[in-house]
Amino acid sequence: MQVVLRPTAEDAAGLAARMISKALREKPDLVLGLATGTTMERLYGMLARMHREEGLDFSLVRTFNLDEYIGLSSDDVHSYHYYMHDQFFRHVNIDRRNTFLPDGMAKDLKVEARSYEEKIERCGGIDVQLLGLGTVGHIGFNEPLSSFYSRTRDKSLTPTTVAQNSRMFDDPSRMPRRALTMGVGTILDSKALIMLVTGRSKAGILAKAIEGPVTSMISATAIQLHHDCRVIVDEEAASSLEAKEYYRWIYENEPEWEEFRGK
Ligand code: F6R
Repeated sequence: MQVVLRPTAEDAAGLAARMISKALREKPDLVLGLATGTTMERLYGMLARMHREEGLDFSLVRTFNLDEYIGLSSDDVHSYHYYMHDQFFRHVNIDRRNTFLPDGMAKDLKVEARSYEEKIERCGGIDVQLLGLGTVGHIGFNEPLSSFYSRTRDKSLTPTTVAQNSRMFDDPSRMPRRALTMGVGTILDSKALIMLVTGRSKAGILAKAIEGPVTSMISATAIQLHHDCRVIVDEEAASSLEAKEYYRWIYENEPEWEEFRGK
């Protein structure tokens, strides 16, 4: 794992956007795993701008989102289908037939979960999976005690996650208590992971997730087991990290980051 510190949330999202843009230029039919949430909004805005101003081409990209609420239809403004359309898809030249999210309205959630895994497999697996970090330490909606071998399935949300996300609902009591989510095992099967974490409210959980012991109580600690994982954070989110100086040194000196420095 490599951790990269950037001064602001804007800089952190900018770096993540440039990493995705590089991956896309190297493989135009990239299979990109997507996340939702407040942290990602800035990143999607930047990718849309790169499409408009630099011609970043999404026409061949296939996307798989991490999760969707159970019981919300795709045209519900609080659904992740709607979020993706609103924040990202409608701003770029992506073929909507190549964008996939789990169907939270499926009659049989187990069948839907299995078929989602099969779709990922048919595309050859996820090349780059984007991740945010929830207050409870989840990736996707993998709440505490999610098995590190878990696959896409329905999952009950913790009160902490409900409190975190019900802020987005006009009527917080409408926030679903369950979701369909890729499993930790599904996420770990991705060829590369990029986690983006910003803001002081994430400082404590970020330190546990990347510097603490690996535990299924904090599903994000599973990323420590991945062989190709980069965590991009701003100074606020990084404020409780122990090895900050080391991470800064890596970014300033490792050849891998040279093309991104000073931009
Ligand atoms: C959403 C998802 C979640 C979020 C996490 C952080 O698709 O996978 O794990 O990434 O809850 O959300 P924000 O960015 O709203 O703090």
